[in-house]
Amino acid sequence: MRRLNFWLLTLSIACTLMIGACPASAQALNGKEMYRNNCKVCHDKGSAQGQYTPMTLTQDQWRNFFKLKLASAHKSVIHPKGGGKLLEQITPDQMKAIQRFAIDHAADSEQPAICG
Ligand code: HEC
Repeated sequence: MRRLNFWLLTLSIACTLMIGACPASAQALNGKEMYRNNCKVCHDKGSAQGQYTPMTLTQDQWRNFFKLKLASAHKSVIHPKGGGKLLEQITPDQMKAIQRFAIDHAADSEQPAICG
């Protein structure tokens, strides 16, 4: 029994450390997942459109991008998975979660992330 407790403790510490490495509240996980499915698909390493991860830009640059550039840069972009227009496939709420994720993990955030 003592031994089992020891393993359980070790396991829970390991889990905590893993979560710490890539922080994920429900909301962040959502945004991260959506970033991966809707953004990274076209902005992965070596992509013709350029690689973009949350830490490619600063928080201000991301805010500007979502406010001013997203629509114009992606107006006629077709979603590689969904088939339709990218901007018609993502609801405003989903876009907010993506924006949250990008800003929370931007270059000058407390937790810069290349996970996407
Ligand atoms: C189907 C492919 C595709 C998807 C999906 C896509 N993009 Fe893009 N993205 C592009 C292309 C193409 C450009 C270049 C547009 C241009 O040169 O004007 C671009 C440009 C950008 C830029 C640079 C804009 C600038 O002018 O500085 C950023 C940042 C960006 N995308 C982020 C995102 C984010 C965030 C998402 C997810 C919500 C996303 N992209 C989804 C194709 C895609």
